Order: sequence, then C-alpha cells, then structure tokens
Amino acid sequence: MHSIFEASPTPVLSSAASTAEQPRGQWLASGGEDPSQFNWQEAWHPIAYVQDLEPSQLSTFTLLEQDLVIWWDRPAQTWRVFVDQCPHRLAPLSEGRITPDGLLECPYHGWTFSGSGQCCRIPQQVDGHPVEQSRRACVQSLPTAVAQGMLFVYPGQSERAASTPVPLVEPLEEAPDEWIVLDGVRDLPFDVLTLLENVLDPSHLPFAHHRSVGDRSIAGPMDLDVTHSDRQGFQGIWETAVGPKKGQFGTQLTTFIAPNLMWHDLTTQEKNRTLTVAYCTPIRKGECRLFARFPFQFASPLPAILMNHTPSWAFHLLQNSILRMIKFSCTFRNAILCGGKTVDRLLKLSTCPPELTVL
Ligand code: FES
Ligand SMILES: [Fe+2]
Repeated sequence: MHSIFEASPTPVLSSAASTAEQPRGQWLASGGEDPSQFNWQEAWHPIAYVQDLEPSQLSTFTLLEQDLVIWWDRPAQTWRVFVDQCPHRLAPLSEGRITPDGLLECPYHGWTFSGSGQCCRIPQQVDGHPVEQSRRACVQSLPTAVAQGMLFVYPGQSERAASTPVPLVEPLEEAPDEWIVLDGVRDLPFDVLTLLENVLDPSHLPFAHHRSVGDRSIAGPMDLDVTHSDRQGFQGIWETAVGPKKGQFGTQLTTFIAPNLMWHDLTTQEKNRTLTVAYCTPIRKGECRLFARFPFQFASPLPAILMNHTPSWAFHLLQNSILRMIKFSCTFRNAILCGGKTVDRLLKLSTCPPELTVL
C-alpha cells in the first residue's frame, strides 16, 4: 500500500496522459524536481465536477493564468482540455463548436482539431500542401484525468503527468459506495494561499461560524499532533481534549496533500463520520476556485434517507449561511497582502451577495 502522499488510486487518464505512463511505483513527486520550491504547474488540479459539464457544449476555465477550453471528445469518449488559443491567429477555441464528427472547430477560419490537438482540416488549404500535418498547426492538449467525479488537468510537462499522483480523498476511495457526498463549488476573489490557510485553520470556527458549525463558548487551545510532514503535505490528529469542539464530538484527523487538497475527518462517538474536503484551485493571482465536498457516513439509515430526499438548493442555502459568517475577513486580508493594488477590485467584489465572497 502506498502512502496517501504518493498513491494515485485508479483515475481514468486521457490518452494524452496515459501514453507517458510509467510502471506503478515510479511515482514522481508533485511540485517538480527542485526541492527548494514547489512548482504548481507540476501537479494535477481539479477544474470541474464532471456532472456539471455538458458534453455538447464547450466550457472554459483559467488555471494558473492560462485560459483553457474543456470539451468532450466523442470519438475517444474522454474529456479534453486544450489551451484556449488557436495556433493559426490565436482565436479562442472556446468560441468555436464541436463538429458533427466530434472534432473541435475554431470559430475564425474553421481549422479543426482532434482530441490529441492534431490539426485535421484547414478549409482554405490547397491540394498537395498538407500544412495541417505541421507541428505548428497543433494545439496544446493537456493531460486530463477523471476520478471521484472530478475532472483534473495537468498543466506542467505532459510526460510527467501519468507518473504524478492525482490528489484524491483516500477514505472515499476505500469505500466509495458507503458515502453520501454533498458538493459545492465557488470562485473566490482571493488568492489560493489565503483560501488554503482558511480551510486548514479550524481555530476560527467557534467565532466565525458561531451558531452554524461553531460555538464561541468552546473556543480554546488546539493541539495538532502531526504524524507525517514533508514537502508533499502533512497529516495530524487533533487531541480530543482540546481540539475542535473540545473533543465532545470525537476525534478529528486533518490531511493536507500539496498543493491543493485538504480534508478534515471527524468521527463522532455515535460512529457518524463526516469529512470536510476542500480542493483549492488557483485561477490567477488573487483568484481561486473552491471545490467543497462533504461526505457523510451515518450509523443509522434515517439521516441518509433524509439527505437523499433533500433538494440540492436546500444544501446551497445552508452552505451560503455558513460562508456568510466571515464576510470580509479573507477578502480584506488578501487585499492587504496584495499591497493594496487590488483593494478597489476586491471591495467591488465584496459588495456582491455575501455568499460570493465569504469563507
Ligand atoms: S484563428 Fe483559428 S482558424 Fe484562424
Ligand atoms: Fe470558515
């Protein structure tokens, strides 16, 4: 059994990734070779829940300042992620369309691309000049993987992708049918590091989330016994006597897998188990996307029945009420750390409905 910091449980890789697959056991560390820094390009990042993607439509995302187009490659039956830029005159491919034969067509002059990024047709091309076979006519197709209901993309060196572990939630992988999972996604106007610091910091719960998931009266020292820590992340257990909720709900584990995944794992004395999972995906400096997942296991069947019959909009209302609690803290903190340059913009964003701006 691999450690969770190197294991990559059975994601479905696109052919662009699997062509470079190495024998299991030769895992490459996320973050690249240089031990003195962590290269965010050399890691898998989730960019969407698969259930939110529409196979007949083109979708977009910006990852680490790179605009991307997401599309369903019908011939290969896999999701593709291309750099959203045509190699001809740089038009955004996301404004194009999927052709009847399942290729991606540029909206400007109609160059057409297969899932590997190969140019297949240039409508203006005269016979005898197969320019579409030139490497310069190709578009960059990034390695993709689908796992645990999410689409991941690898923005770094593609030959490293298949050997780099996809960050997955190990407890979900161990017993996928035993969880009821509530999912949320939100784009946030602060840096991914600010978000990571927030979700890894349970000490704010009693105050920022008083009367929802927190209680001021039980605030106190919190002691994390770190059981593992290295460049790829850390894992620890909160001492029950002084941890979140002062241990009254049982023990809690926290796991961080660099650079973008963390989860808290809480098992109550009644044997109900709850994970609080956060994937934090960098869009660009000062902006990120949060994927919040809440997997539950219940000792009795009744809560599961109720949750299965609760409409998703009810969950969104609950989520918003939690997020609203500390409306400005992350936004203002991020503005200060950014040297004030983005304050005006952040302030504008923070006047949006509070659920758009709060953690
Ligand atoms: S810019 Fe895409 S075909 Fe010309
Ligand atoms: Fe919070």
